[in-house]
Amino acid sequence: MLVTMDAKQGNLHDYLTTHDKEQLDDWTFNGVDTKYMTHGLHPYPARMIPQIARRLVTIYARGKEPVWDPFCGSGSTLVEAMIMGRNSIGTDLNPFATFLSKVKTTPLDIAKLRKVSDNVLKATRERLQKATKDAEIPVMHNPTYYFKEDVILDLAEIKDEVFAVSDGDIRDFLRLCLASTARDVSNLKKNEFKIVHMGQAKVEDFKPDVQVTFGNHVERCIRLMESFVRKLEGENPSAEIYTIDNRELALEENSIDVVVTSPPYGDHSTTVAYGQFSRYPGIWAGIEEDKLKSVDRIGLGGRSHSNYSSEILNSTLLDTTYQKILKNSEKRAKQFFNFFLDLNGSLLAMYHALKNGSHACIVVGNRLMSRIRIPTDAIIVELGQNIGFAHITTIGRDIPTKRMPWQNAPENVEGYSADTMHNEHIIILQKR
Ligand SMILES: C[S@@+](CC[C@H](N)C(=O)[O-])C[C@H]1O[C@@H](n2cnc3c(N)ncnc32)[C@H](O)[C@@H]1O
Repeated sequence: MLVTMDAKQGNLHDYLTTHDKEQLDDWTFNGVDTKYMTHGLHPYPARMIPQIARRLVTIYARGKEPVWDPFCGSGSTLVEAMIMGRNSIGTDLNPFATFLSKVKTTPLDIAKLRKVSDNVLKATRERLQKATKDAEIPVMHNPTYYFKEDVILDLAEIKDEVFAVSDGDIRDFLRLCLASTARDVSNLKKNEFKIVHMGQAKVEDFKPDVQVTFGNHVERCIRLMESFVRKLEGENPSAEIYTIDNRELALEENSIDVVVTSPPYGDHSTTVAYGQFSRYPGIWAGIEEDKLKSVDRIGLGGRSHSNYSSEILNSTLLDTTYQKILKNSEKRAKQFFNFFLDLNGSLLAMYHALKNGSHACIVVGNRLMSRIRIPTDAIIVELGQNIGFAHITTIGRDIPTKRMPWQNAPENVEGYSADTMHNEHIIILQKR
């Protein structure tokens, strides 16, 4: 575990309570429960450890304006903000991520939720015993490759019942339970980020019980929602969630108290394919396949297609890193540049929305690209400084539990595997 000199001796201490000072060395959060309350409703790749989001909000939030997570993913920061009684805003261009964030930040009346869920479960049990199953199947490419035929028919019957629920928030909650069910009963490997088929031989022996799986998820998720509602004690801070590229959300200038976020570590196609991960759970939750398919194309690094010029971003470190990658691969060097071009746009949006004197806390990992370790944290610092941010500190932390593709060489060279990341960095910038 590494804490920078700044963090130990510099400005950070000014902000900390005695308790925080004692805790300063431990940002690892090894062995902590990261799935408590609604954090555990559904998995999402590269989730932020909720304890980190909470600590960053505790240290850096100052006023009453909202907390903003521009790359909110599954909503970890938003849930923590709510628990702390703070309003928040989340943006993500993945419609499944924002759907998940919405469900995780919407407290429900538990008695009503139980009653409606019991009715849905009873109705789906009856439906699944029928001889003919004729519910509409959502549009998806090659469904029988991804799901067995009988599984598709059962999922569709449950979907019809779930979508008939009149209370919109409870319906969304049950849509998410159906998404979890679809993930479990699909023919795909469950511990992958990308879409990987389990293989025909395994599919033949795979006989999931769709109704039982759905019932288990409903029961599990109600318990998690119950503990969230209890924790809120009737307080209901708002979480506004937008499915949008964060560079396009026109937040007012000086309207945000603190940014707590973790952007992707690289473009979606060569790091974590958030769109692929979300595709089948999302389709069964009622999100259009085309929208889910576009996520990995338009995510950070996918929008800019510029040729390199050192004058565009004006970062020495970016320039030297670009030149190193270029020696190995022109294509990778261009991908690298366009990723930072897009990320710079997000930094500009954060700078615009933050109040003067407030902080952006950005958690990143330094990935390998063409076997070169990318100093993403230090490049972000340089880009931030160009925009007008002051660099307060960078805190290093080991990653004990984060779901990352540890053994995947991004270059896809056969026989070559390397850790893509050992630790991550928490960069603290301040708008001056
Ligand atoms: C590391 S994940 C965030 C995980 C999140 N902190 C959590 O705990 O679930 C990065 C997210 O950024 C999103 N994303 C990528 N480019 C984006 C952009 N330009 N605008 C908004 N979201 C973007 C991806 O869809 C992904 O959900």
